[in-house]
Amino acid sequence: MNIQALLSEKISQALMAAGAPAESEAQVRQSAKAQFGDYQANGVMSVAKKLGMPPRQLAEKVVEALDLSGIVSKVEIAGPGFINLFLEKSWVAAQVDHALRAPKLGITPVTPQTIVVDYSAPNVAKEMHVGHLRSTIIGDASVRTLEFLGHNVIRANHVGDWGTQFGMLIAYLEKMQNEHAAEMELSDLEQFYREAKQHYDEDPAFAERARAYVVKLQGGDEYCRRMWRKLVDVTMAQNQITYDRLNVTLTERDVMGESLYNSMLPGIVADLKDKGLAVESEGATVVFLDEFKNKEGEPMGVIIQKKDGGYLYTTTDIACAKYRYETLGADRVLYYIDSRQHQHLMMAWSIVRKAGYVPDSVPLEHHMFGMMLGKDGKPFKTRSGGTVKLSDLLDEAIERAGKLIKEKNPDLSEEDLKQLVNAVGIGAVKYADLSKSRTTDYIFDWDNMLAFEGNTAPYMQYAYSRVASIFKRAAIEPASLQAQPLVLNEEREITLATRLLQFEEVLTTVAREGTPHVMCSYLYDLAGLFSGFYEHCPILSAESDEIRNSRLKLALLTQQTLKTGLDTLGIETVERM
Ligand code: ARG
Repeated sequence: MNIQALLSEKISQALMAAGAPAESEAQVRQSAKAQFGDYQANGVMSVAKKLGMPPRQLAEKVVEALDLSGIVSKVEIAGPGFINLFLEKSWVAAQVDHALRAPKLGITPVTPQTIVVDYSAPNVAKEMHVGHLRSTIIGDASVRTLEFLGHNVIRANHVGDWGTQFGMLIAYLEKMQNEHAAEMELSDLEQFYREAKQHYDEDPAFAERARAYVVKLQGGDEYCRRMWRKLVDVTMAQNQITYDRLNVTLTERDVMGESLYNSMLPGIVADLKDKGLAVESEGATVVFLDEFKNKEGEPMGVIIQKKDGGYLYTTTDIACAKYRYETLGADRVLYYIDSRQHQHLMMAWSIVRKAGYVPDSVPLEHHMFGMMLGKDGKPFKTRSGGTVKLSDLLDEAIERAGKLIKEKNPDLSEEDLKQLVNAVGIGAVKYADLSKSRTTDYIFDWDNMLAFEGNTAPYMQYAYSRVASIFKRAAIEPASLQAQPLVLNEEREITLATRLLQFEEVLTTVAREGTPHVMCSYLYDLAGLFSGFYEHCPILSAESDEIRNSRLKLALLTQQTLKTGLDTLGIETVERM
């Protein structure tokens, strides 16, 4: 049920009936204060202006034409022409009942779109770092939400698996294999990369070999391809361990690395030249973009092919957007990449649009995010100033969560303890990131993220387990409640029920804007409302069976909403905590 959409539609109809031009916006929002009702329509003012009519007069005409019988108990015109809507509690109760019975908590089926989501995108022979962590976690929450709504999502892991560095990496892998006879384990990728680079810088014969391998690899040489594959496979196998630990839905099948677009690049460059978009400039092939100015105020040039014939990161992103539309059939493409790459994407897409590779009707969206900072406000680093390895970060999360949980639950079984520690430790790292508006930098702070108070994973997981435990204590099968009537009397019951019904509005916002923190805030609010309700409206000791069953139904929908919401975020729940 999407109350906001339902009311918007009704108010829009009434606006038209009152003489508003087509496409006039009803502007229906959840009210900020209970005195203004549950929802507010604010569209009257701007329409009245267009019509040259006093807004309150238009509001009256709208209210007259409005048919919300059975849905709304009271309509009020307030201030200059706001329309305040108060929901009918029997309608709210019926919707809660419906949500409990219908699949997917009663959300409205969508017209499925094919949505490509570009996220995670680590680089080969490099360790995943904190920037990839943010992209991976936020992107995955977005993917889960879109899929839950019913869209057809294609995960695109744009792995950095191509470029001139592969000559050096292959040459080094070869050297290692020769020296160690046995199969190489690239257990420490950072170190491998560093050593390869060192050999390249210090050993001219090695550098020579490396350069030859680049050419061979690009020419499709079988030996070089095989060595390259090995580097990609080893890296991705390690990353897969991290994805699985993180409860992230990416698999090897989702890898669509830069190399995938390599064969498209010569054609793209030729086509951009044919279309008059690309020109030769100082030996390179460049697209000049009027809408981006350099320091001198001249159109900025984007190099798409270097003097030596090599292609660039941007050329690949041009090809990749084209591929996602043409071959994958995308209706929409979402990119979860840090904000420092914003201009790069804007320039690549500007070329994509000019060349007509992706029509304007298919949005290319950069869902960017800021940097992860340490407590000191500087980029997040190890104590010695190095990049923080993701696996080390997760180990630390588990260790810290372990200490905390053991203290609180001294008599948990080994098995339960392990599961709980994992859910809380990993959940804390993920939730801390997901709960902040993603566009800003964010401060990574262990103590905050592991706190049992506030908008944190442990708090949300605890809130969930508390609701779940009610059913265990009541020794009641949730299914047996189905036939029981739901009546809402107390203010707290009605508030909780109304908020539960707003779940779909939140899902829709997250899907549209790619902002999982909106879901976190909602779930946090919901948990708080439930707490207040539980304290003031006794469930198991309610004065009658009818009230008890009604309240159990509210508890049940709360439990399911918390679980489903946390699921869309990729946060695990536990039944006992
Ligand atoms: N591999 C890149 C990096 O580590 C991120 C790639 C993002 N996706 C893209 N289509 N450019 O910075």
